[in-house]
Amino acid sequence: MSTVVNPGLEGVVVGETVLSNVEGEAGRLTYRGYDIHDLAENASFEEVMHLLLFGQLPTHQELIDLNARLTARRALPSGLLAMLHAIPRDAWPMDVLRTGVSAVSQFIPHRPDGSHETSVETAIDLIAKFPTIVAAWDRMRRGLEPIAPDPKLSTAANFLFMRTGEMPIPEAEQALDTYLVLLADHSFNASTFSARVTASTGADIYCAVTSAVSTLAGDLHGGAPSKVMVHLEEIGLPEKAEPYVRDLLARHEKIMGMGHREYKIRDPRAAQLEQMAKNLTEKSHTKWYLIARALEDAADKVLREQKPGKQIYANVEFYTAPTLSSLGIPADEFTCMFACGRIAGWTAHVLEQFAHNRLIRPQATYTGPAVHPYEPIATRRSTAAPGTNGHPHPSTGSG
Ligand code: COA
Repeated sequence: MSTVVNPGLEGVVVGETVLSNVEGEAGRLTYRGYDIHDLAENASFEEVMHLLLFGQLPTHQELIDLNARLTARRALPSGLLAMLHAIPRDAWPMDVLRTGVSAVSQFIPHRPDGSHETSVETAIDLIAKFPTIVAAWDRMRRGLEPIAPDPKLSTAANFLFMRTGEMPIPEAEQALDTYLVLLADHSFNASTFSARVTASTGADIYCAVTSAVSTLAGDLHGGAPSKVMVHLEEIGLPEKAEPYVRDLLARHEKIMGMGHREYKIRDPRAAQLEQMAKNLTEKSHTKWYLIARALEDAADKVLREQKPGKQIYANVEFYTAPTLSSLGIPADEFTCMFACGRIAGWTAHVLEQFAHNRLIRPQATYTGPAVHPYEPIATRRSTAAPGTNGHPHPSTGSG
């Protein structure tokens, strides 16, 4: 019987979810049946959290209750703050978030007992604490004391307030809130899948979310927007975008923030983010939107020429860069901001996995040596080329 090997699990359906639907050909994203554009224009991040965790948009009273639970859990335990203080100031914010998140469980009286109620409470705890960890580290690495969350503020406003100590202007709060809504969930993306794999073993929600944060860090997933910012800085002027793209592709490099495994047309979230980036950069008199627009146009033109039929368009990360940058957020924190939105989806997926669990355990086709006898150390000879991990070197064939 022949086995189909699919290294990237492309097109492989590994489960069911009621949380979000990515329709790649149509360029449509929905959360529990609500179109992302509708949610971005009308719902707050807290409403979307409620939708994902509890199955429906909240009533007025349910929203008040959820906000009260978030408010009660936003502050970090003093032990966790002391631990963050011990981290070298030049640490990458995403490393610090991963360490901070994995440490949260050390500072609670009891680990979740596996019941749905305590898992939901833990989900709310993590959603509440993510932005506090990111904002605390933002200040600590600048040599400043962290600022405690303000109980009157929303998730988005609190983050901006905890970074700077100043009340954000309504436009900034609105923009960050919409960003968090847009990033909240995206079906079985790599980090969510990673959370579900961990949850499927019976590990608790803290373990699952720590896996997810680690998986988000890579450039092919949540690490892309910081690299988009590098593109924008290197381009410097809109008219330099096209030669820049040609040079990048000549070096066989990718344009970050472009391309997607699922979307075969422009990512629907890119339109919302583009509009926000435009409004924010006009207000803050920065050039980033104009350069990003020129980069997208140049990339479209050159990719059509050089990779015809490949369907590579702007993804959610592309206009994230000018949007977050205009809010004063440093480029190396962009992935952490992604995590602050996606934590709503991660936790909802973990709850869904717990409710219908089956251990996720795929197979691999073995391509190593045939069975052979144990070799005593005295007679062994080293044959592996350095750095190949025992795999045949690509240029030397399979041997
Ligand atoms: N820039 C230039 N070429 C790109 C590209 C990009 N951003 N994205 C894909 N391609 C090209 C690849 O070079 C490849 O071309 P080839 O067949 O001539 O070698 C082809 O398109 C298929 O790319 P591949 O990486 O195999 O597809 P994938 O489904 O695995 O890719 C991504 C999805 C997201 C990993 C990929 O588009 C990418 O790396 N994008 C940049 C990083 C990024 O923005 N990540 C955030 C995703 S939300």
